[in-house]
Amino acid sequence: MRSLLFVLSLICFCSQSALSWKKEEFRSCDQTPFCKRARSRTPGACSLIVGDVSITDGDLVAKLLPKTPNQGDGDQIKPLILSLSVYTDGIVRLRIDEDHSLNPPKKRFRVPDVVVSEFDEKKIWVQKVATETISGDTSPSSVVYVSDGYEAVVRHDPFEVYVREKSGDRRRVVSLNSHGLFDFEQLGKKSDGDNWEEKFRTHTDSRPSGPQSISFDVSFYDSSFVYGIPEHATSFALKPTKGPGVEESEPYRLFNLDVFEYEHESPFGLYGSIPFMVSHGKSGKTSGFFWLNAAEMQIDVLASGWDAESGISLPSSQSRIDTLWMSEAGIVDTFFFVGPGPKDVVKQYASVTGTSAMPQLFATGYHQCRWNYKDEEDVAQVDSKFDEHDIPYDVLWLDIEHTDGKRYFTWDNVLFPHPEEMQKKLAAKGRKMVTIVDPHIKRDDSYFLHKEATQKGYYVKDSSGKDFDGWCWPGSSSYIDMLSPEIREWWGGRFSYKKYVGSTPSLYIWNDMNEPSVFNGPEVTMPRDALHVGGVEHREVHNAYGYYFHMATSDGLVMRGEGKDRPFVLSRAIFPGTQRYGAVWTGDNTAEWEHLRVSIPMVLTLGLTGVTFSGADIGGFFGNPEPELLVRWYQVGAYYPFFRGHAHHDTKRREPWLFGERNTELMRDAIHTRYMLLPYFYTLFREANVTGVPVVRPLWMEFPQDEATFGNDEAFMVGSGLLVQGVYTKGTTHASVYLPGKESWYDLRNGKTYVGGKTYKMDAPEESIPAFQKAGTIIPRKDRFRRSSSQMDNDPYTLVIALNSFQEADGELYIDDGKSFEFTRGSYIHRRFIFSNGILTSTNLAPPQARLSSQCLIDRIIILGHASGPKTALVEPLNQKAEIEMGPLRMGGLVASSGTKVLTIRKPGVQVDQDWTVKIL
Ligand code: NOJ
Repeated sequence: MRSLLFVLSLICFCSQSALSWKKEEFRSCDQTPFCKRARSRTPGACSLIVGDVSITDGDLVAKLLPKTPNQGDGDQIKPLILSLSVYTDGIVRLRIDEDHSLNPPKKRFRVPDVVVSEFDEKKIWVQKVATETISGDTSPSSVVYVSDGYEAVVRHDPFEVYVREKSGDRRRVVSLNSHGLFDFEQLGKKSDGDNWEEKFRTHTDSRPSGPQSISFDVSFYDSSFVYGIPEHATSFALKPTKGPGVEESEPYRLFNLDVFEYEHESPFGLYGSIPFMVSHGKSGKTSGFFWLNAAEMQIDVLASGWDAESGISLPSSQSRIDTLWMSEAGIVDTFFFVGPGPKDVVKQYASVTGTSAMPQLFATGYHQCRWNYKDEEDVAQVDSKFDEHDIPYDVLWLDIEHTDGKRYFTWDNVLFPHPEEMQKKLAAKGRKMVTIVDPHIKRDDSYFLHKEATQKGYYVKDSSGKDFDGWCWPGSSSYIDMLSPEIREWWGGRFSYKKYVGSTPSLYIWNDMNEPSVFNGPEVTMPRDALHVGGVEHREVHNAYGYYFHMATSDGLVMRGEGKDRPFVLSRAIFPGTQRYGAVWTGDNTAEWEHLRVSIPMVLTLGLTGVTFSGADIGGFFGNPEPELLVRWYQVGAYYPFFRGHAHHDTKRREPWLFGERNTELMRDAIHTRYMLLPYFYTLFREANVTGVPVVRPLWMEFPQDEATFGNDEAFMVGSGLLVQGVYTKGTTHASVYLPGKESWYDLRNGKTYVGGKTYKMDAPEESIPAFQKAGTIIPRKDRFRRSSSQMDNDPYTLVIALNSFQEADGELYIDDGKSFEFTRGSYIHRRFIFSNGILTSTNLAPPQARLSSQCLIDRIIILGHASGPKTALVEPLNQKAEIEMGPLRMGGLVASSGTKVLTIRKPGVQVDQDWTVKIL
């Protein structure tokens, strides 16, 4: 019976490949009772008021009480406990939960392990709560000073919480419940006749604890657009989902799902969920709101005028975007971020959930993947073809077919009989291998992992308490319960070289299907009433399951390397904090131009919400890209923080040399461009690691005042120095490019200058997509072509100086050993380059205790925007002369045939880790 079911479910799953996204397999808001209830509430419905305000443990603590006391025997509203804490850098945390002293039937789930421990150190203990009667109110409100010139207001009646500027017009920044949509379904006891079950298609959710959803409205002030809340395949600026002028649309759904052949323009939730929204407006100001909650969430962005009939009046001098947040379970644990700049908001969010891990250098290079490289011979051939075609790459990936029957941590001993040797051969060229390890474990009594997990009781349980059994790649499978720290530690131990037989130090890991994907489960995932350790229902932790799996794997690799080797783990599921554990990709996209286009807003959104190390499958996972699309995808993908080609097993082979010499050349150039820019990317990854500012950024993050950038999600910034415009249409040889700001931009391809603040029709011939360096920046590169990033270790640097109108520029370079954690102990080089008054100066940015040396030289300095004339430069303290030449701009093998001549200082002979000056004579 079981195998019949399996075959049926597999036929059903695989046959979908001929079709596209099956909408009916997933719930709409109308089919999701908590969402339907919340969406139909009318403004002003909340009848709670604030009382019993006190200061407890440095927080403002109060009760949320019914305005009209409970009467009779009907449903009694019990007081809720509200606590508001303030932190340095303009962060307010608001928590609302049931009152535990009133013995609710169970404790609601609070998500552990996301907020970093250092965040507590930022807490400012509330000393004083002021009172103020807001005009029009009959009772006073409580006011707490936050920091940096902001204060938090807890309005008592009607209940509302907001953050405002302390001085001037006391402008509001972010508010909660201004429209009275707050609703908190309290846990109750089941009475006779209550039916808490919910049915969807063939599945029944027993919902043992009954309704427990929470919803509220959040308003962002001085806002033109809101962004964030991944993961959706949609525009970067979030379109309204409800209100005047909006055709009936679903809210943005946050529920981690394995969505087969997702659409490129949809609010439907994909593999990951980060309930963090960012607002940006004309004043150049940015703010943010984050709800730490792992249950299903739905969020409406409300079109202006949605509340016309509500009678609610908010400061009309401020433009505003209202949103409605709804979650099935959990507590209110929310964070308000005041900004005021875009980078301030991402830093504030990072101070709560952490910054992204510093990747190894190899991970920032190109990755070659396919479902599947068939056997060892295939691996060897693909590897040697890269060399034959002079294309660098760093990592070769093996998908599920490399295992013995989808039993992870094993190898198919016919196809991959010598895994160690295979990895060593790659390692000899400085290359790595990645194998896939998914969370579903084959229920096979002879499989060591299943035996051990069963014996130890490490699986998630079904609602009856038995090990949950669902269908995935291996057939009948159980799922490791990653919520438990003990189980995570055990899981991590599976990656030791001894336990993972056939693994070597150059092997890293890919965590897929960790939403978790369950082919025969409701909406292709685990039933919500499945049980985790401590009796936590899956519904409460669902969106964080994959995060815990990613964490356990990543920590396992750290253990494997005895704390000396930075882990690399790619995850498909995403949650706040994912950035601390590795990279992510945007899942199963399709070989279509629109999927190429949507990859940019998707990557930008992930970066904005902390997860900077992301990318989309180059070429599209499903389908066969025409060569032009594939080439354009490589050209844009070379700028994704995570750069990987991948494809479904039904697709034709598409390694870069399979489409004729010309296309090979074009793809090679794109990959070379990435390798040349690795020093710049690596420096940006370090910036992200220290501050939380993403590697790839929306234009408005660099030009917050420039309104023309707010809705632009076809161009993006790589750091603050490069602007890249993708080409997303077939047969196009031009692109319309908006270059923001007042300063000029230099075309990376030929050095031509363009004045900022204008839109240009740029050439986009098949050779390249438009990319520009901002005047006033210095970008470090390595221009020699090698087989992999590690082979570039000792190569000299090129500095590209783009002068601004004052003939000045500056930039940075970060270097470490590219692999270990020694950089955390000060073993790194961090230089600042400043060009001013005709002199380039290299100074140290690292603290005095930083100690890494390098023999690498700077062997070329290209200066864009410098007049011709000078023939030599003086290098100090070496007291040497270096030759200057004028010529066309070179970008690796590409030499600009037209365009401006640029000045190049050849072989100044200076070392990258030293202080020096180069003066143009
Ligand atoms: C689904 C993943 O999204 C895809 O990248 C992978 O190739 C397949 N699972 C098989 O492992």
